[in-house]
Amino acid sequence: MVVSRSLFDEVMVPNYAPAQIIPVKGQGSKLWDQAGKEYIDFAGGIAVNCLGHCHPALVSALKEQADKLWHLSNVLTNEPALLLAKALVDTTFAEKVYFANSGAEANEAALKLARRYAKDKYGEHKDQIISFKQGFHGRTFFTVTVGGQPAYSDGFGPKPEGIEHAEFNNLDSLKALISANTCAVMVEPMQGEGGVVPATNEFIRGVRELCDKHNALLIFDEVQTGVGRTGELYAYMAYGVTPDILTTAKALGGGFPIGAMLTTTEIAKHLVVGTHGSTYGGNPLACAVALAAVDTVNTPAVLNGVHSKAALFKQELQRINDKYPIFSEVRGMGLLIGAVLNADYAGKARDIMLAGAEHGVMTLVAGMNVVRFAPSLVIPDADIIEGMARFEQAIAQVVAATPAKQA
Ligand SMILES: Cc1ncc(COP(=O)(O)O)c(C=O)c1O
Repeated sequence: MVVSRSLFDEVMVPNYAPAQIIPVKGQGSKLWDQAGKEYIDFAGGIAVNCLGHCHPALVSALKEQADKLWHLSNVLTNEPALLLAKALVDTTFAEKVYFANSGAEANEAALKLARRYAKDKYGEHKDQIISFKQGFHGRTFFTVTVGGQPAYSDGFGPKPEGIEHAEFNNLDSLKALISANTCAVMVEPMQGEGGVVPATNEFIRGVRELCDKHNALLIFDEVQTGVGRTGELYAYMAYGVTPDILTTAKALGGGFPIGAMLTTTEIAKHLVVGTHGSTYGGNPLACAVALAAVDTVNTPAVLNGVHSKAALFKQELQRINDKYPIFSEVRGMGLLIGAVLNADYAGKARDIMLAGAEHGVMTLVAGMNVVRFAPSLVIPDADIIEGMARFEQAIAQVVAATPAKQA
């Protein structure tokens, strides 16, 4: 049977609009499509493929576990889940771990835990959740409502209640909403989907103080920033501010679906037997791969490499921008980088991404005005240089196709 892009339109629910090409093979930071065309991958499966494609450590962990044990459910525990939980506890603030299958599920668990903790400790009235405009926390109905983009949560009937949105990087806006009724504040240390916007140090410290003042739990959604992306194992480490609950997914499995919620013993104890669960959460295959991913990423060589590779990315983007002034700002932390289009190219991020694919480089967008890069944390420098040469061709194409603004 011929597998072609048209089959997608025939048999798939139309909620995605994938590119016309279908990649069939990946190795390191390169992908190849059905026609054998090569692409440099600066997208990394949206910040998932932290070690690129088919990294030997992940392949061997998966193969080894595949021969041993695939699934038990949480009626029984398993060795890979316990080893991964121990590794996460040993390397972070956390004392307890809950496993899920995705970022949204990890966040769902975090939000339910925060509500239950507050109810048990302070009473029913303490149920308000505050998050931030333009934030993104997943697509379950609870998490998408906590997310700060109504376009994603509208149109599905009555929403979960008790959720309010403050302005990101604006403490006064949070101060105006937070009160004794607030059970939790959920925030991304750097908004990813919302445009690659890092939180300021002052903001993160201020959010922590306000949570402490009002007995609200601080939840860091590190689904996109976690597992080395920013050059620390978790971004909170760079801010020096410790959350009460942290969620992680995406890069945790390096491409194998897994999510986790990390917290303290004191908070975790409120999620007693029967209050929450998942059939697949803590699946041995997922946990074996994730353990290999965490062990491989959490080394000075990989984490320091993130900083030097990020500097090379930014240098290359600056070089391109000197030739074709198209970006007003290049921002981000570590290898989550956003190149913000200036007014002349407003709305063209998707055109640039598509032109990039034509020229053999995969990028992402974060909204209409930001081209986003979330490559492998171990991408070879030579692939960065080659990918940027291709990206430059894509920019040249878009610049040539954009009518010059009249002065
Ligand atoms: C910060 C953040 N939280 C949660 C999610 C949802 O993760 P998933 O798509 O695995 O449910 C995402 C996905 O982009 C994310 O960036």
